[in-house]
Amino acid sequence: MGLSVTRTGNTFVAEIGGVDLAQPLDEATVEAIRQAWWDNSILVFRGQNLTQEQHVAFSGHFGELQGHTVKDWLLPTHPEILVLSNRGRGGVKPLENGGAYWHSDITYQAVPPMGSILYGLTVPPEGGDTLYADMHAAYEALDEETKALIADRVAIHNYKHRYLLMAEGGRRPDPTPEQLAEWQDVEHPVVLVHPESGRKCLFVNEGFTVSIKGLEKEESDALLQRLCAHSVKPQFVYAHKWRPGDIVMWDNRSTMHCATPYDAEKYERTMHRTTIKGITGQRAAAA
Ligand code: SIN
Repeated sequence: MGLSVTRTGNTFVAEIGGVDLAQPLDEATVEAIRQAWWDNSILVFRGQNLTQEQHVAFSGHFGELQGHTVKDWLLPTHPEILVLSNRGRGGVKPLENGGAYWHSDITYQAVPPMGSILYGLTVPPEGGDTLYADMHAAYEALDEETKALIADRVAIHNYKHRYLLMAEGGRRPDPTPEQLAEWQDVEHPVVLVHPESGRKCLFVNEGFTVSIKGLEKEESDALLQRLCAHSVKPQFVYAHKWRPGDIVMWDNRSTMHCATPYDAEKYERTMHRTTIKGITGQRAAAA
């Protein structure tokens, strides 16, 4: 059976069938997946069974991989893999509430990742979904006044504020001086022109966007809060209910995501994530 691309009820999510990601993929198959990815932002593959090497090899088709600023969560044997596990599998410290707030990955770096590929190894039978927000649709649905207000605006992103919130709540160790030195402000446009499609999308998130440059704190906080609340309205959101063996790959430039709660005493939730560096314009380069 050949590769199939089936849109789900949402406008930005497709399920890909007819492909075993554990096998080496030919260039035509990789290109078909890449095309589906640009067309949909979120791709879902069901029933996969990958070794760590195969997860890394599949991810590597889409660009160079990167780790994470908190090295404790990287798999020692494969540091390209971030382990999100409440049981701390593979010699990695347990990580609860890893992505349990709306965010796009690593926007606190000057060049944020283009995408991530999350593999569900052990998933709870209830809860622990991942929600995804379509930031193209969210931008397009804004009223003209708001679009004019945010056009050409720049936002500041930083990891420090998010990490310290977690550390103060006792959910993270105190940051090291090296980490604090690394976590500097970076700037990104509030409205990103997607390098593959040319479509505009909102590029702010609750996790790491700390302010909008040039606005007073009160105004900046209120605008960020309004943009984030707007983006996660039900009509823009897809909820992925995990089954073991699922792989979800998302375009990090045009989506936000958020893990939902589950009973962490009762259930294990272990996910492996690879993250693809922010190379942009692959479609343009290929054309
Ligand atoms: C992440 O934020 O990258 C992981 C989300 C999840 O665990 O559902």
